Amino acid sequence: MADHVPVTKAVVPAAGLGTRFLPATKATPKEMLPIVDKPAIQYVVEEAVSAGLDDILLITGRGKRPIEDHFDRAYELEEALRAKEDPERLHSVRESAELADVHYVRQGEPKGLGHAVHCARRHVGDEPFAVLLGDDLIDERDALLQRMLEVRETYGGSVVALMEVEPEQVSLYGCAAIEPTDEDDVVRVTDLVEKPVPGEAPSRWIIIGRYVCDPAVFDVLEKTPPGRGGEIQLTDALLTLAKRDRSEGGPVHGVLFRGRRYDTGNKLDYLRTVVQFAADRPELADEFLPWLREFVAKHDEAGR
Ligand code: UTP
Repeated sequence: MADHVPVTKAVVPAAGLGTRFLPATKATPKEMLPIVDKPAIQYVVEEAVSAGLDDILLITGRGKRPIEDHFDRAYELEEALRAKEDPERLHSVRESAELADVHYVRQGEPKGLGHAVHCARRHVGDEPFAVLLGDDLIDERDALLQRMLEVRETYGGSVVALMEVEPEQVSLYGCAAIEPTDEDDVVRVTDLVEKPVPGEAPSRWIIIGRYVCDPAVFDVLEKTPPGRGGEIQLTDALLTLAKRDRSEGGPVHGVLFRGRRYDTGNKLDYLRTVVQFAADRPELADEFLPWLREFVAKHDEAGR
């Protein structure tokens, strides 16, 4: 029945512990780390909105209050900026509160991404929905989510986003076994392996942080036992759906994404992301890039 229902809701899990970023994430959610001057999660919410999904459910947890404050009005700050006659900053402060219809549900314990998604069940109901990880950014010039929604429309079931990585990288991610379809950028997913042992990966295509899920995923998640690391994995539930046909909430297709993706959940990729975003901002790039060039040259010279 949910097969012909359009996707209108986005779920953004942001309840993880962010241990790779300690101690910064001891009291600050990793999704709030700034990418130049905006927290990572704002880019994610903006992406959902530009794909037409403005009902956003954020999955939060202990210590994640700053996320709620960020998407809420800040009257004192607004008043101060109004008094200072600073309309530009006033706009930037109001923007995040007016972006979308943002809802929250708390994941009592961070028991894994699958568990976080299951927390969305009551809000989502019997409709397909998108999942966007709160620390994974897709360049706004690459319309991945829109494409995934089209693929759901055509094939039903669930859709994952896949990116090709070097063989030695595959074991860090969830990896998909795939079969071609008639469309160049769409594959049928036949198997999913979370963090495969090196040499045993079925392909070089890894799952990145965008999904369109059939609501059948909720029943499956309920029955999915904790997998790797004691966490309930969304990948395990999607594997069950990948083996089903359309009448039972399956299958799973993959969109082969060849665009720009920025992982902000680990230190090295975070640094890369900040530099790339700064380089794309003309008001910063004009001074930042010549400085960066000189810094690298001097650094290399000193190291010789
Ligand atoms: P990660 O595995 O990257 O997140 O989850 P983590 O556990 O926060 O990070 P590390 O590994 O300890 O550094 C991907 C996304 O899923 C959310 C996270 O907040 C992140 O946005 N997540 C993860 C949850 O919402 N709940 C969980 O139980 C686990």
